[in-house]
Amino acid sequence: MCKKNFYITTPIYYPSDKLHIGNTYTTVAADALARYKRLTGYDVMFLTGTDEHGQKIQQRAEAKDMQPKAFVDEIVAGIKDLWNMMDISYDKFIRTTDDYHVKTVQKIFKKLYDQGDIYKGSYEGWYCTPCESFFTDTQLVNGNCPDCGRPVEKTKEESYFFKMSKYADRLIEYIETHPEFIQPESRKNEMLNNFLRPGLQDLCISRTSFSWGIPVEFDPGHVVYVWIDALSNYISALGYGSDNDELYKKFWPADVHLIGKDILRFHTIYWPIILMALGEPLPKQVFGHGWLLVDGGKMSKSKGNVVDPVLLVNEFGCDAVRYYLLHEIPFGSDGLYNSEIFMNKFNSDLANDLGNLVSRTSAMIIKYFGGEVLAPSSEEDNFDKELKAVTLSMPEKVEAAMNAFKIPEALDEIWTVVRRANKYIDETTPWILGKDESKKDRLATVLYNLLEALRFVTVELEAFLPNTASKIKEQLKFENVSYESLKSFDGVKVGTKLEKGEVIFPRIDVEKKLEELAAMKEAQAPKREIKPIKEEITIEDFEKIDLRVVKVLACEPIKGAKKLLKLKVDLGGEERQVVSGISQYYKPEELVGKNVVLVANLKPVKLRGELSQGMILAASSDDDKELFVVDPGKLETGSVVR
Ligand code: ME8
Ligand code: MG
Repeated sequence: MCKKNFYITTPIYYPSDKLHIGNTYTTVAADALARYKRLTGYDVMFLTGTDEHGQKIQQRAEAKDMQPKAFVDEIVAGIKDLWNMMDISYDKFIRTTDDYHVKTVQKIFKKLYDQGDIYKGSYEGWYCTPCESFFTDTQLVNGNCPDCGRPVEKTKEESYFFKMSKYADRLIEYIETHPEFIQPESRKNEMLNNFLRPGLQDLCISRTSFSWGIPVEFDPGHVVYVWIDALSNYISALGYGSDNDELYKKFWPADVHLIGKDILRFHTIYWPIILMALGEPLPKQVFGHGWLLVDGGKMSKSKGNVVDPVLLVNEFGCDAVRYYLLHEIPFGSDGLYNSEIFMNKFNSDLANDLGNLVSRTSAMIIKYFGGEVLAPSSEEDNFDKELKAVTLSMPEKVEAAMNAFKIPEALDEIWTVVRRANKYIDETTPWILGKDESKKDRLATVLYNLLEALRFVTVELEAFLPNTASKIKEQLKFENVSYESLKSFDGVKVGTKLEKGEVIFPRIDVEKKLEELAAMKEAQAPKREIKPIKEEITIEDFEKIDLRVVKVLACEPIKGAKKLLKLKVDLGGEERQVVSGISQYYKPEELVGKNVVLVANLKPVKLRGELSQGMILAASSDDDKELFVVDPGKLETGSVVR
């Protein structure tokens, strides 16, 4: 029989030095789905990778005096290490700097241009560099980026645009006639009502103000901007448009793009439109999961509230982290990360429920039968029947949940068997049976049934907690672990010999561990060293400095000087010219009309041929990346600052 194919993707990640467990969530969830499909007989292609171009990367590399490619190479190696650590079973890792991807993107760009979907125009608006996003006037919040709240820059540059609106009606119709396309369903209406129906703006798809990107072949100076580059990864990875597109023919359209809800719009509007323009089929499903929140807020690097997956894996093991992510975050909605809940769940679900079941079962087999698995008798009581029924019906329920992307529910189904088996021990009281030689057959049956229930659990756990599955398999010497074998309740081999094994999930002392974690976090936080304080001065020394409130009347850059601005300021009726090295931080128009503080009795000097009568006070960060001129409020010009 020919295997069915299953193609699943994660987003390609921005190279970030530290991925937090919020980022990890997408990939762990995709991994569980991919593993589950493999387990149940599919031929799976599981793609992940990194999204390596853009101005932000270029700037970060420059700040480190590195070539962008060398800069991202290091980070990408770290991301791969993390995925190894998390046991991510990806089949392919794509980097948008890979040659084949670059070629495919160039081909796509050219094709869309040749067929008239792309035109050259010019872009004017606001740009947020950290978010790499453009905004119109009305989108800004208090003049700042609506996404991250940081200042934006005015930009105008020649750009290529994609005529999105041309395909809007077709896309609306597609979404309406394919209710499974956008998942969870609630997000579908958001896309239709907030974005598609009000009308689509043409999308800016090239930039000239930076160079770290895929060059537009027919127009040097332009690089492909963000989404055409990033989204195409899903098909370039399969060899789309190359000499060898076998994988593309086999796996496209994707069964599911799994993504966070922040990038749903790009995946359900831009991406389908690009594919329509290329004449290619659309992915079958785009699933937008929710946020991992900490203390009520979104976990993000800029908020400084990130939880480090590496620390958690080192402390508790990869499967403990996987279990938390897969079980505690309702799939599709937001979930909370909290260390205390993490450890309590570890103790209750992993150590108590599952870990104990494994150790008790194997310990009893060792104690009563010298480790030998004996054949069950054919007589069944109601407890046996119920355990069997619950166990045998589990795989189908897990399958239904997984097909609906309900990963927590799938785990619940597995734990239903675990809990039923623990209850079965209480009901059948093997420790009493063990005292009575005449109950030996009954005891053998009970222990066999426990092992068999655990075998079902172990086979299924391969998709969710692969390490744990291996450990149990090894400890209980399961040989028959095919998914097919879950059709009947007799897969454990009689005669198997068990030995004492390790405890799979040693209980955590929650209070102690919380303290340890807090101490560790503190120790890891980089200690900041402030610049040394200068030699002491007297109040008389200080009073020699005459600081005054002045108003900026005019401001312009000085030609040929990269950092300097020339300011005309009003000092209570007297006009002064001041040269200040702040042009990386302020646009001239931002300063005009502002009150600032001037060192008014500083000996005048000439800078680049321009007279500077004083100095403007400003506070700057240690690395000089940020600088703010000191704001004296709305005082009259000429007022003294003390
Ligand atoms: O968006 N909780 O990459 P990325 C859950 N390069 N998921 C979170 C999260 C949180 N707190 N924070 C981030 C990009 N994520 C683009 C994608 S695809 C063609 C291009 C998720 O590194 C986020 O939603 O910013 C996304 O799914 C993934 O982490 C990578 O985000
Ligand atoms: Mg992001």
